Amino acid sequence: MTEVGWVLLPLRLFLGITMIYAGLLKFFDPAFLDPTSPNGVRSQMLAAAPGSPIGPLVTFSADHAALFGLTIAMGELLVGLGVLLGLWTRIAALGGLLLSLSFFLTVSWGTSPYFFGPDIVFVFAFTPLIIGGDGGLYSLQVVIRDATRRRMRLAVPPPADESAHVALEVERRTLLRTGVVAGGIAVGAALLGGVGRLTASARQGDATAAAPTMPAGTTTTTTTTTGGGTANGVKLGKASSVPVGGVKAFTDPTTGDPAYLLQPKAGTYLAYSAVCTHQGCTVGFDQPSGQFACPCHGARFDASNGDAVRGPARQPLRKINVTESNGVLYAV
Ligand code: FES
Repeated sequence: MTEVGWVLLPLRLFLGITMIYAGLLKFFDPAFLDPTSPNGVRSQMLAAAPGSPIGPLVTFSADHAALFGLTIAMGELLVGLGVLLGLWTRIAALGGLLLSLSFFLTVSWGTSPYFFGPDIVFVFAFTPLIIGGDGGLYSLQVVIRDATRRRMRLAVPPPADESAHVALEVERRTLLRTGVVAGGIAVGAALLGGVGRLTASARQGDATAAAPTMPAGTTTTTTTTTGGGTANGVKLGKASSVPVGGVKAFTDPTTGDPAYLLQPKAGTYLAYSAVCTHQGCTVGFDQPSGQFACPCHGARFDASNGDAVRGPARQPLRKINVTESNGVLYAV
């Protein structure tokens, strides 16, 4: 079994550390639970839903974005701790596989070819740990089991002729003790997550006070009218719902693609498809730089005109013409 443990150890280290890091990033990110932020979990869910094979489920989750967002962050943290510490390793790996599968079916579903998206790789990376566990190497569960045996004045490791009754009693007590330890770790993780959310809230307050704005100098073919124009197009919503200097996520009514509305200065509206022109991932808005950023391969797009300013994407984001009439925005 130990050989299996050594073979799986690099995978445990990578997946454990990565999942802990991913969970903490979400807890400490001010935008993650912000329902108005295009980089928040709600906007990401709404952007991913139209093209996802589990779209209705994603839309339902978006309606309860804070609950699902915190569940995802806590899930990643617990999966990472379980895999890294060797506590209920198989169950933790199964949780990691399910989380990765849900990401593959949502944010990575539009990635083409499929192997450019990282989530499908994570799905299969967790599989060996489901099959082999931690192999008993650097395993908190083994430590607890051995301690249980010593308290019961039993030999460590167990003799070959140990009765099934004794072995069952050892497992029962080990299960209870690992449950207590796992509960303690979960409480610790929840406290850490709470600290993250408090820190994120404080940072969000600072950012609001600083009120960064988008770069001016807009050059675009986007149609913009103010005050009383005729509305010829598909209604997108109230103009006031798009913050000045910010963006609002919406679904392009003509294609069903995720898209963004922007108001770089009061009364001027822009709209772009959020589909990256490289391989089709959904871009997010990076407020400080005034650029759209693609999470898949790092392309960036100028929010003032949609142009690709960093590869591998070369083509600009597709523009969507919008017009404003009586305080309502329309796609035309
Ligand atoms: S899909 Fe590759 S950079 Fe966006």
